[in-house]
Amino acid sequence: MEREEVRQAYGKMRFEALKIVRDKKMKLWFFSYVLSVIITAVVYVTGGTTKVYPNLMYIPIAIMASVYGKWPGVIHAIISGLLMGPFMPLDRELQIGQEAINWVVRLITYAIIAMVIGYFSDFFREEFEEKVRKEKEIADAHMAVVYALAKLAEFRDSDTGGHIERVTGICHLLTSNLRRRGKYTYLIDDDYIEKLTKVSPLHDIGKVGIPDCILLKPGRLTAKEFEVMKTHTTIGAKTLLEVKEKFPENRFLELAINITNFHHERWDGTGYPLGLKGNEIPLSARIMAIVDVYDALRSKRVYKDAYTHEESLKIIKEEEESGKAFDPEIVAAFLEVEDEIREIFLQYENSGARMAEGQ
Ligand SMILES: [Fe+2]
Repeated sequence: MEREEVRQAYGKMRFEALKIVRDKKMKLWFFSYVLSVIITAVVYVTGGTTKVYPNLMYIPIAIMASVYGKWPGVIHAIISGLLMGPFMPLDRELQIGQEAINWVVRLITYAIIAMVIGYFSDFFREEFEEKVRKEKEIADAHMAVVYALAKLAEFRDSDTGGHIERVTGICHLLTSNLRRRGKYTYLIDDDYIEKLTKVSPLHDIGKVGIPDCILLKPGRLTAKEFEVMKTHTTIGAKTLLEVKEKFPENRFLELAINITNFHHERWDGTGYPLGLKGNEIPLSARIMAIVDVYDALRSKRVYKDAYTHEESLKIIKEEEESGKAFDPEIVAAFLEVEDEIREIFLQYENSGARMAEGQ
């Protein structure tokens, strides 16, 4: 849990840093040109190009070429070279001008420097973009597998289908609202919301390991059967842990393991499999818990009819008031968007059944 939170916090810092760089990019263009003008003034005021100050011009040229690439860098270098060109004296006090060869060679040197820096900048930028494109392809394939696995689990115990779409939609809405309310913002950023939304359908993947006679039993489970049913959390987590051994740096899998293992933990510590309490339960699993309970309440099962939206909310509120099942912050965020949650549920209600009937 702690590892997840540290990684999420690190991810958020990285994202914010990249955002700042992106936002500042336009300002760097202006800054580079202003800096060139300032350096020109410094060279003139300090007596001309005999001093070392013309070398300062490499700074704005390097900024321009590295941020914007080869040709913007070369254009900036030529303009900077001209600023240091025929109108800039060699020695202002002695009123000696520069020879043409002097400023022309300097201008060419500026341009070559810009070209070299810009060339490598463009090369690494293109390489980065290609890498991002490939990663997106892999992520899409990733999602296709997740969706297929979740569908397999869903078909075993869902009477109506549409569970994946509902859980995904509600999870995204709820996590976004938590961030909007300023809760757990040290963990929740765009990346967290996207990944948690994508892994959410996997929370009950372990049910593929539960025998039909228990999973589909119409009546109440015996104590022994319930113990078997509870193992769907650990079966799912164990399977994903084995996958994670092959891909140890995968944050996606880490979130999937947490929601699979801990989505039946309760705020008061009476849940399973470990009886974690309060903030000991990973945030991802605390979010998943309320989404899963709402969808389960609203769905028809072999052992129960579906509750209405209002009845389901009443049960969730009662659980929250007694401080038993859910994180109060998450319940508050949930109730704030309850109308949208109802809409998402209705939108995907029976969608699996409709698909099966070819409608
Ligand atoms: Fe479950």
